[in-house]
Amino acid sequence: MRIKNCIPALIAATLLFGAPALAETTVKVGVINTYSGPLAATGDGIQRGIDLYIKLHPNELPAGVTIELIKRDDTGVNPEVAKRLAQELITHDKVQILTGVVWTPNALSIAPLATEAKVPFVIMNAGTAMITTKSPYIARVSFTMWESNYPLGTWAAKSGLKNVFTLVSDYGPGIDAESAFSKAFTDGGGTIAGSVRMPVTTPDFVPFLQRAKDAKPDAVFCFVPASKQATAFMKAFGDLGLTAAGVKLIGPGDITPDEELPGMGDVALGTITMHHYSSALDTPENKAFVAAYKAAYGADAEPGFEAVDAYDGMAAIYAVVKAQNGNIDPDKTMELLKGWKDASPRGPISIDPETRDIVQNEYLRRVDKVNGQLQNTVIETTPAVKDPWKEINKAK
Ligand code: PHB
Repeated sequence: MRIKNCIPALIAATLLFGAPALAETTVKVGVINTYSGPLAATGDGIQRGIDLYIKLHPNELPAGVTIELIKRDDTGVNPEVAKRLAQELITHDKVQILTGVVWTPNALSIAPLATEAKVPFVIMNAGTAMITTKSPYIARVSFTMWESNYPLGTWAAKSGLKNVFTLVSDYGPGIDAESAFSKAFTDGGGTIAGSVRMPVTTPDFVPFLQRAKDAKPDAVFCFVPASKQATAFMKAFGDLGLTAAGVKLIGPGDITPDEELPGMGDVALGTITMHHYSSALDTPENKAFVAAYKAAYGADAEPGFEAVDAYDGMAAIYAVVKAQNGNIDPDKTMELLKGWKDASPRGPISIDPETRDIVQNEYLRRVDKVNGQLQNTVIETTPAVKDPWKEINKAK
């Protein structure tokens, strides 16, 4: 057909079918998360954060660009399952971005696949410091265990605690928590009264806490994975009478997650933690976030750090999709993630261009009762903390 003859045909087609549709671009994002099993509560917080971001940003993406989430359940600390799911998402579903991932071992098993297939991997939880060194396609929006536990060790020594007994879950983040806290605490003149590592999913903390109690420390430092493990630990701490014996409880915010406080009860009162978020943070960004969370999930629902981290993870994903108009190039995506910044409910955040790890405030918090409800009251803020593990190792 000659050009001249095309024009009436085009006009006829437009009359028949309406204006030609805008080109549609769908970006496929694979979410690997823990949706079932005894450790699913953290995964639930992550999904709520993802959904809330999407709900509150209906017009954020360019016209014709949509994000399709493909969700997969790793059912807990299962690196083999996570690896298989990532493989399927990459080869079968052709995802262009991977995200989610509560557990360090799962993130580590996915890292080589992200490198091999050049799929950007935005980590929404897993917190062992070295994870980001395992693939140039990883960027982390959540936290590192050193970011909270190293400054906590410094604070503990300054606050007059002399002997601290450490109890941590025996895997990556627990070992990081123990190392970071112990280094800063002993550098500050403190003594470690004893250290015990516990199975990740132990249902019974009493035998471990009994050993801590027998050592008669000033405080117990603890890391267990947030959510139900933290509540079970707190209950055992109360049952064994450690508070009554004058032993303080300190640790990263994972041991007093905001959403678990109502279930923990008064035994949690006075616990001192360091973390990158508290739902009691008194900022306009956080107040708006908490209100939106309650509007979406119920007046009694409390957002925890997992929900905020996932919310921010979606903000980062939307930003890279928007900047590329939906045409995802892996290397361009990583360049965009490096240096990405946002005004998060947790405070100002950015991705360090050098390490691809999160830079954020750390808050010293104390569990208080305000208007009859437990909360993590912020007592001190350290701004713009970079992962100390990477800073220390860089300096060597
Ligand atoms: C992790 O496996 O990296 C992890 C899981 C739960 C937490 C913190 C870290 O609360």
